[in-house]
Amino acid sequence: MRTGTNINELEAQKQKEIMERLKARLEKRSQELGRPLTYCSVCFGCQMNAKDSEKLEGILETIGYVRTENEDADFLIMNTCTVRENANLRVYGRLGQLKKYKKKNPDMIIALCGCMMQESLVVEKIKQSYRHVDIIFGTHNVFKLAELIENRLDSKGMVIDIWEGTSEIVEDLPSERKYDFKCGVNIMYGCNNFCTYCIVPYVRGRERSRKPEDIVAEIKELVADGVTEVMLLGQNVNSYGKTLENPVSFAKLLEMVEEVDGLKRIRFMTSHPKDLSDELIAVMAKSKKICKHLHLPMQSGSSKVLKDMNRSYTKESYLALADKIKKAIPDISLTTDIIVGFPTETEEDFEETIDVVRKVRFDSAFTFIYSRRSGTPAANMEFQATDEEIKGRFDRLLKEVQEIAKETCSKDQGNIMEVLVEGRDEQDENLLTGRLSNNLLVHFPGDSELIGTYQNVKLAEAKGFYYIGERI
Ligand code: SAH
Ligand code: SF4
Ligand code: F3S
Repeated sequence: MRTGTNINELEAQKQKEIMERLKARLEKRSQELGRPLTYCSVCFGCQMNAKDSEKLEGILETIGYVRTENEDADFLIMNTCTVRENANLRVYGRLGQLKKYKKKNPDMIIALCGCMMQESLVVEKIKQSYRHVDIIFGTHNVFKLAELIENRLDSKGMVIDIWEGTSEIVEDLPSERKYDFKCGVNIMYGCNNFCTYCIVPYVRGRERSRKPEDIVAEIKELVADGVTEVMLLGQNVNSYGKTLENPVSFAKLLEMVEEVDGLKRIRFMTSHPKDLSDELIAVMAKSKKICKHLHLPMQSGSSKVLKDMNRSYTKESYLALADKIKKAIPDISLTTDIIVGFPTETEEDFEETIDVVRKVRFDSAFTFIYSRRSGTPAANMEFQATDEEIKGRFDRLLKEVQEIAKETCSKDQGNIMEVLVEGRDEQDENLLTGRLSNNLLVHFPGDSELIGTYQNVKLAEAKGFYYIGERI
């Protein structure tokens, strides 16, 4: 609807005006201090959060803050995750540490945002026990950062602004890209699936898709600015477009993105197995740009547990789907997420998971021990196994997954394949690191000038989860 667009444009305009004002204000402060004002941005969680952090950093750079990796910056922002308990604990640990920086620099501003802040109990705890925090906001109003900073500078107390949900998508604000040559692009926000273990639908709100023309326009702009690889982001990209006024399938969106001249690679995350269509498989099979990688979280191999998780597929249908994908796209790399110790999981159920792992032979798998999230349906289910049994299962699964991945990831040894050079190797500065279409990394000797370019590399030696190669 037109009105919706107008509201968004008005909001973006308002934020830009605030940024102008703040910029002048911070410049003055910087002159008084005789040094630039710095910001440090810390991000926990998934690619959605990473993308939000790029938007926050874009705003901070626009108003004149200079990036530093040190936490004793003038402005510190922590973008939080709450998908598992340990994500929360890490944030509280870090917060305690920050008190000493604030003592040294009373002007320091500490901001917290992201998924954890959408939980009222968390905000209560911070209000009571971490009074050195200045600004708290959530996942729905990232675009308001400048306004919240202005509010903080004009008041003395903590500024808290959490939205329950939103139907708004505010476009066209600055974003600070981590890489010049690749970039994540939101295609949808939120999630409607309500898997019984998962807190994401509660903290990210209902599913909202961006219009295809807005997505394509953003990608064209990115390409004009040097980007050659995009990662389309959504909690369940396969249900993209269903709620739009003019519904569009994810496969159709991919075809539209494929047509963008100058774009070389398209990735996407994450695919829910229940919505993965034959149309998508066909589009992937014939595409020249879509990467040969599909992340297809299975969570469990037991049909009973999958039902309890509200995943809407069975062991058999998952296996059939994996088979169909491999037949249609033989060089595809399949990766997955698995949860061990879901409350209703018995030893037999766990054996089913191991069985699927052996049958599908994933190129890699993220394995998690189930973490109880209050407010989710699974939080009230009774455990069928002890902590010790669950830990034992986790170790067995990890071993199985790693042994298989080591073999499947070595299958291209000796071949020559194209990589996008992403940077210098973090361990060995004589080497560059490039990414294959199938998402595996290759380390090989070369000059920094090659960063951001595509190179053909011989995969000389398979090292398990990466290759050592040489440029051809
Ligand atoms: N939308 C994605 C997943 C996002 S969360 C999807 O459905 O595929 C990333 C992963 O975290 C999930 O795939 C799941 O394996 C894991 N996860 C989510 N909630 C969890 C919990 N309560 N305990 C343990 N792992 C969890
Ligand atoms: Fe969570 Fe399920 Fe939504 Fe993924 S699809 S974000 S696991 S509720
Ligand atoms: Fe975490 Fe929020 Fe992503 S809970 S996994 S950062 S959507």
